[in-house]
Amino acid sequence: PVADIGVVGLAVMGSNLARNLARNGNKVAIFNRSPEKTEHLVVEHPEAEFVPTFTYEEFAASLARPRTAIIMVKAGAGTDAVIDELVRVFEPGDIIVDGGNAHFPDTIRREKAVRETGINFVGAGISGGEEGALNGPSIMPGGSDEAWVTLGPILRSIAAIAEGEPCVTHIGHDGAGHFVKMVHNGIEYADMQLIAEAYDLIRRGTGKTPAQIADVFAEWNTGELESYLVEITAEVLRQNDAATGEALVDVILDEAGAKGTGAWTVQTALDLGVPASGIAEAVFARSLSSQRGQRDAAVGLPGPAPAEHEGFAHDAETFVEQVRLALYASKIVAYSQGFDIIRAGAAAYDWAIDLGAVSKIWRGGCIIRAQFLNRIADAYAAQPDLPLLLAAPYFAEALGRAQDAWREVVTVAAASGIPAPAFASSLAYYDGLRADRLPAALVQGQRDFFGAHTYRRVDRPGVFHTEWSGDRSETQES
Ligand code: 6PG
Repeated sequence: PVADIGVVGLAVMGSNLARNLARNGNKVAIFNRSPEKTEHLVVEHPEAEFVPTFTYEEFAASLARPRTAIIMVKAGAGTDAVIDELVRVFEPGDIIVDGGNAHFPDTIRREKAVRETGINFVGAGISGGEEGALNGPSIMPGGSDEAWVTLGPILRSIAAIAEGEPCVTHIGHDGAGHFVKMVHNGIEYADMQLIAEAYDLIRRGTGKTPAQIADVFAEWNTGELESYLVEITAEVLRQNDAATGEALVDVILDEAGAKGTGAWTVQTALDLGVPASGIAEAVFARSLSSQRGQRDAAVGLPGPAPAEHEGFAHDAETFVEQVRLALYASKIVAYSQGFDIIRAGAAAYDWAIDLGAVSKIWRGGCIIRAQFLNRIADAYAAQPDLPLLLAAPYFAEALGRAQDAWREVVTVAAASGIPAPAFASSLAYYDGLRADRLPAALVQGQRDFFGAHTYRRVDRPGVFHTEWSGDRSETQES
């Protein structure tokens, strides 16, 4: 055996990860179902120390023990098929890593099944797209402590570096890594939707062109909004279509795709009872955009008078700054909701997840990397058991500073008939949390009325019911 690590699945992500591993001092066994990809990778990259293999037996025989293999195939049934093959040729103590976007319950199931053979199974979220896989992704591994001993140094060698630290940490056991990667993607959806709403409001409010708005985002990227997503937004907005000469954003069909990780995040939040409303709105906004038939049916429905929705921002610069503040405030909400899902998931699945460590490994390599994550890391360093991220002093101050503009932007959006669902729901979430009293009291009264579901009182302990269909006296439940 000559290789330190193997990669199964040599599509772009797998090839790039294998090259990254080879560049960082690893001898990498490579295997792909169709042999052409394996041969191609060897020919294209003579600089890399690859050990090409063409059967699973050969792959296993080429690996030093404990054998370590990273599976990089499309999430789903293909992953199970590769795991079965590796279990067949591997031995107890060896390590199988799934680097795809697996749904965490699948990872929990697979880890349990593979563990029975004595082999370690690690579900590892890997973020950063093709470029990240090649030059340094953010990596979120779950699995056993035993596997982490071998895997840690290898993953540290290929991860992105942020503030001098590799962007990888052992997230927790079994499915914890894929759980955290799922939430990363949920936040990614929210962040992207918020940026898209900011763009739409500025465009329709000020009449600026996409190229001018690219300048706005490029400028924002030098301040507290500095992030990969804001940076690439400027690039996309600046791009012109060669065929038509129009801004590319104007010729791209406005129906957003989704591969499911955002929906999983929201489904999980619902199951855990976590109000991840901003993330949910981002997922729903993509769904709405893709309902072509319904959009066609609704296109003539009345909206505000034209005068109220064209170039409504009399002072463009002031409006742009208000939108920036609204974006920042809504972004704080999205991250706060995301960390809340992780907190609740860790409690429900018994994972010891260090939220501060999660914020640190998201500072580099991944799609949501942002300056802002340093502030989140600071907040968890100051108080590791922070119950609500957005109430930490730094964020509370930032929200206080932004809230007038945030309200103004949501008001203007509603008055102008411009959909800003993620901005609006983030603000409602903030106000909901802040509220001294919520109308939930009335909901409790209604529930008691029709279903004798009982309620508690503000002034005495105990559980109560009003005899709604009788004399309306109150009884205390035993
Ligand atoms: C990442 C990305 C990556 C992928 C998304 C895209 O972290 O590198 O999140 O995993 O690009 O899954 O998701 P949608 O196709 O659902 O937008």
